[in-house]
Amino acid sequence: MAKVIVALTMSVDGFIAGANDGQDLPLGEGGARLFDWYFDGDRPIRPYAEAAARGVRVPPFALSAASAEVFEELAESGGAVVTGRRTYDIAGAWGGNGPVPGVPLFVVTHRVPDSVPSGESAYTFVTDGVASAVEQAKAVAGDRHVSLMGAAAPQACLREGLLDEIQIHLVPVLLGAGVRLFDHLGTERVELDLVRVVDAPGVTHLRYRVVR
Ligand SMILES: NC(=O)c1ccc[n+]([C@@H]2O[C@H](COP(=O)([O-])OP(=O)(O)OC[C@H]3O[C@@H](n4cnc5c(N)ncnc54)[C@H](OP(=O)(O)O)[C@@H]3O)[C@@H](O)[C@H]2O)c1
Repeated sequence: MAKVIVALTMSVDGFIAGANDGQDLPLGEGGARLFDWYFDGDRPIRPYAEAAARGVRVPPFALSAASAEVFEELAESGGAVVTGRRTYDIAGAWGGNGPVPGVPLFVVTHRVPDSVPSGESAYTFVTDGVASAVEQAKAVAGDRHVSLMGAAAPQACLREGLLDEIQIHLVPVLLGAGVRLFDHLGTERVELDLVRVVDAPGVTHLRYRVVR
């Protein structure tokens, strides 16, 4: 059965984007700093390098060896992605190729667009909530994991007891403002088990299991 995970890059003060994010400033003020580790080395990421060879436009990832291993394992074990509509819009719909080329994408939204760019990933717009999107994503993911993007979907999954694992790529910077990953969760305590730590140049990869 597919696990539901969130794997995001976060500042030490808990932000996945800086203030005033939008299509002109995808990661908000100062937020691009969160992705420096994607370009800190010389290792491409297999699924993206293969997509580039097929002519798909993907970011020119060049990671350290330690980060590449973590990132590649995540990219290759994913079977579907669920994202909130803001991330979809800010990313320009990833040109139709999804955050991971070829992996089906489910967008939680109140506004189904009239058209989507055609590319390698199948896009489904889900208007009846995050739990429904996760259920549909699990159905196509098989035994691969469902990955959540943006803050709204992981927050909803944490509130509804649907999240299995949290992979934080922790970047040693304080952004001071922006989009918090662990916001709107209420006051109920959530226990986590630390299952893996990989210390890499410019980033620490922390994997937690959500205790339920
Ligand atoms: N650091 C990282 O690794 C990383 C990765 C991905 C994204 N990001 C950043 O995260 C930020 C976006 O996160 P976010 O939390 O602000 O937005 P988000 O989760 O991407 O999207 C939120 C939107 O999704 C729709 N939505 C959410 N829950 C819904 C529900 N139950 N029913 C229907 N629609 C629902 C709503 O859009 P509508 O009502 O308009 O349809 C809502 O405004 C961006 O700055 C992005 O660049 C960072």
